[in-house]
Amino acid sequence: MKVLILCHSFNSLTQRIFVELKKDHQVSVEFDINEAVTESAVNIYNPQVIIAPFLKRKIPPSIWRNYPTLIIHPGIPGDKGPSSLDWAIMNEEKTWGVTILQANDEYDSDDIWDFETFDLPPNIRKSTLYRKQITEAAIRCLKTTLLGLEKGERPISPEEIKGTYHPPMKQIDRAIDWEQDSTDQIIRKLNASDSRPGVLDTLENISVYLYHGIKEEKLTGKVKEVLGTKDDAICLGTKDGAVWITHLKQKGELTLKLPATDILPISKEVATTFSEIKYKQIGEIGYLYFDFYNGAMSTDQCTRLLREYQNALTHKTKVLVLMGGEDFWSNGIHLHKIENAPSPAEESWENINAMNDLVEAIINTTDRLTISAMRGNAGAGGVFLALATDYILAYQGVVLNPHYKSMGNLFGSEYWTYLLPRRIGKFRAKEITDRKQPMGVSEALHLGLIDQTFSATDEIQDFAFNLSFDETYPKKLQYKQQGLNEDQLKRPLKKYREEELEKMRLNFFGFDPSYHVARYNFTYDVPHSRTPKHLAVHRGLNYEGEF
Ligand code: COA
Repeated sequence: MKVLILCHSFNSLTQRIFVELKKDHQVSVEFDINEAVTESAVNIYNPQVIIAPFLKRKIPPSIWRNYPTLIIHPGIPGDKGPSSLDWAIMNEEKTWGVTILQANDEYDSDDIWDFETFDLPPNIRKSTLYRKQITEAAIRCLKTTLLGLEKGERPISPEEIKGTYHPPMKQIDRAIDWEQDSTDQIIRKLNASDSRPGVLDTLENISVYLYHGIKEEKLTGKVKEVLGTKDDAICLGTKDGAVWITHLKQKGELTLKLPATDILPISKEVATTFSEIKYKQIGEIGYLYFDFYNGAMSTDQCTRLLREYQNALTHKTKVLVLMGGEDFWSNGIHLHKIENAPSPAEESWENINAMNDLVEAIINTTDRLTISAMRGNAGAGGVFLALATDYILAYQGVVLNPHYKSMGNLFGSEYWTYLLPRRIGKFRAKEITDRKQPMGVSEALHLGLIDQTFSATDEIQDFAFNLSFDETYPKKLQYKQQGLNEDQLKRPLKKYREEELEKMRLNFFGFDPSYHVARYNFTYDVPHSRTPKHLAVHRGLNYEGEF
């Protein structure tokens, strides 16, 4: 079918739909910038179906009257309103779901194509729920719906489902009552508000939005007092314990979401169970977890991770598994920290060098085998970080963006000019970095960008375990050492780094401001003015899209 994805931005759900539907359908994307632009896209493309995974305004009747227009609603049948997930978490629903609706004059209409329900895990963050459970269920429902549409079926409007409208959740609904709320209640409010809009509060006389609450296991102290800091997060006392807040954003125009201690410059390092980086060992297999918020890796985080990586190498293991974070594997250098730095160019330089040091250490690990286990999405330098290990496993729903160019034509580093052709060949390396599109795991597997997919974390352990007991393990290790030596003889690794950094120097310090502009737009969430050319296929080759 000819499918048009109409969306506010190309977010994770939209990207996943794009990669899944592209397998069987002709898919193009248009950003819903305004009515005229959207109408023109529909007129040019004349799609058989429009899919709206993520919109911020109503679809014009001129569109839904003339084209079947499917809306993905992140709620159970009958649920209505723009804060579905927020209310589901806040109300501690046990079951939640996704519904595919056909657009009509109501915002969340009653015409249902398909729906799926699932158990709502306790303590889940809204953004995790959206990226995992909602996305998985939406893909399955969407595929069923498209089959139904192809067969000429119609949506149903079941009478027994009574609609429940939930109003937009306001800050007053999210507000923490520090004297009354338990740690669990506080975390629930934060979970329902993450990654947006956060919970508005006042800390040290500054109005801030709080993000990402994690329960502290040991520390206790005065309510709302900063009890300690760790990994740029702050620990606040609650009536029955304490909570870590990892990120803050000052209220007001043009402010950035940043690690908490960047907003409240407090340094009170404490011993705690909370840590972004954790090492675990089972037998001869080491697991290094690095759960960085949004997968962004600042200079400090890269340095800390390198230190922990080197530490992990001091433990006697045969296999070291890099586990990344649960939500994201890695999204490369930390654009928000860079944007906030006194000299973004200098900070970009420091950050990419810190990333490179980490990648270099992984490539040069020749005394054991290494695995990247991508449990969440990865973008830009984050993808190439994974390529530094010997094996790459990816969760079956992961979306990869193995390219840098969408960030203001950034050349990229992380030894990608060595790592990517080594895995998939020069020709394909050029093709995927130029086309700037997201990639699903089936394509990544087919290309050889990854080695295996998994649907449960046990499979990571099984893979590592089998590798460590494989009778060819010593041979594998020997090939690895030989391979690296031969590669170094052909062209020393440092040459790749130097050449990449020469180009990056121009991106950071040169006359062309594209990277700085793109980073500004990204970090301040500036609305798109046009759909990028590589997504709006229907607009043809002569279309000058947003970069
Ligand atoms: N630095 C800082 N924050 C980042 C980030 C980065 N490198 N990559 C993603 N984020 C943040 C976003 O700002 C967003 O924040 P919020 O939800 O707290 O407001 C969050 O992560 C999720 O990002 P989003 O774009 O919504 O995720 P997605 O899954 O829809 O899209 C990408 C994935 C990879 C396409 C997109 O995040 C991206 O382009 N990231 C930048 C990659 C990059 O250019 N890195 C630098 C070069 S190495």
